[in-house]
Amino acid sequence: MNLAVLGATGSIGSQTLEVARRRGHRILALASRRASPEFWRLVDEFRPEAYAFEQGDGEAAFGRRVTGESALTELALWPGVDTVVLAVTGFAGLPPLLAALRAGRRVAAATKEAIIAGGDLLRGAVANGLLLPVDSEHAAAFQLLRGRAEGAVRRLIITTSGGALRDWPLERLADARPEDALRHPNWSMGNLITIDSATLMNKGIELIEAHVLFGLPLERLDVWIHPTQIVHALCETVDGALYASLARPDMKLPIEQALSHPEVPVGALRPLEPEDMAELRFSRPDDQRYPSLRLCRDAGTIGGTMPAVLTAADQVAAGAFLAGDIPFPSIVPLVASVLDRHEVVESPDFEALAAADRWARRTAEDLLRRSE
Ligand SMILES: NC(=O)c1ccc[n+]([C@@H]2O[C@H](COP(=O)([O-])OP(=O)(O)OC[C@H]3O[C@@H](n4cnc5c(N)ncnc54)[C@H](OP(=O)(O)O)[C@@H]3O)[C@@H](O)[C@H]2O)c1
Repeated sequence: MNLAVLGATGSIGSQTLEVARRRGHRILALASRRASPEFWRLVDEFRPEAYAFEQGDGEAAFGRRVTGESALTELALWPGVDTVVLAVTGFAGLPPLLAALRAGRRVAAATKEAIIAGGDLLRGAVANGLLLPVDSEHAAAFQLLRGRAEGAVRRLIITTSGGALRDWPLERLADARPEDALRHPNWSMGNLITIDSATLMNKGIELIEAHVLFGLPLERLDVWIHPTQIVHALCETVDGALYASLARPDMKLPIEQALSHPEVPVGALRPLEPEDMAELRFSRPDDQRYPSLRLCRDAGTIGGTMPAVLTAADQVAAGAFLAGDIPFPSIVPLVASVLDRHEVVESPDFEALAAADRWARRTAEDLLRRSE
């Protein structure tokens, strides 16, 4: 299989490349943000026909360097690519995602910020087999929902570990340092998504992602805390049965499932044994500890440009916490302040979404400066 891997040096990108090495997939196009030593090492190893980066300089002795604002889109549309793996962070993922889908090309998509920003523009893309979710909960939900009529599903539940600060007393959260919040109990991921896991903003964004991907209303989507994260998603049907999808927490499974769909990837993961499932605990997230969930539900219900604003503001806020500029409990209120100031555009086109993304970043940065 021929792949374009956008975000090749990141957590999802490098796990995709591990899968590619093992399964013998060819990498026709590669992109990252920076021309880092790791990026050049990958170019050297995979010898793609085309590659791109935003920051830095240099050229390889082979392949074509694609430059300019539409470089990611050009790579997504590179001739001969069977599947685009979308593993960049943020809104930058939306143009290549839309372009690939419009061209009828399959996309294994991890970039949840682009999915929730895209909203209605992505409608039907999962049902027609072009958009394949890579987020572990959504990949699990995709398997659970396959072949079920929408009317048969009463509720879809996605799980969360509760993040690195789950057991911290509420009054101590203001003392949490970036290194505390970066200690995720089950997954090793990029820094921003790990901070988002601690605030549960990541899970709130995933609620909207499930709504966009599967077309289920937000009232039928739920989040449960499940510390070991062996169960990734549960599907309740109208007869009262509950179906669960269980696997070891390892992103290579959803990556392989997305790449092989509709085939089942043989031996993608070591299966669970009964003793691994001895302790399956679940609880409901507490609104006081995790105000992000309500905020995300509201943003998803309003729709239009609001989800794009949510994720852009969140990236600035989580980045400010990582830089030591704001305390942990200020992340969600900063995002809420940006949402409060936003004038929503209903049924936005791409330009309106891009403008909302820029506006949200600017507004979040202004608010940060004013609070200094
Ligand atoms: N990590 C996980 O387990 C996981 C699970 C589910 C979903 N996701 C989602 O998958 C996406 C990627 O997450 P991650 O954890 O892999 O992030 P990450 O480790 O920070 O990696 C991001 C990758 O994208 C590249 N990149 C960022 N902005 C870019 C741009 N404008 N143009 C080109 N390349 C760009 C980065 O390049 P540089 O290295 O040069 O900065 C890097 O290769 C996120 O949307 C995240 O929410 C991640």
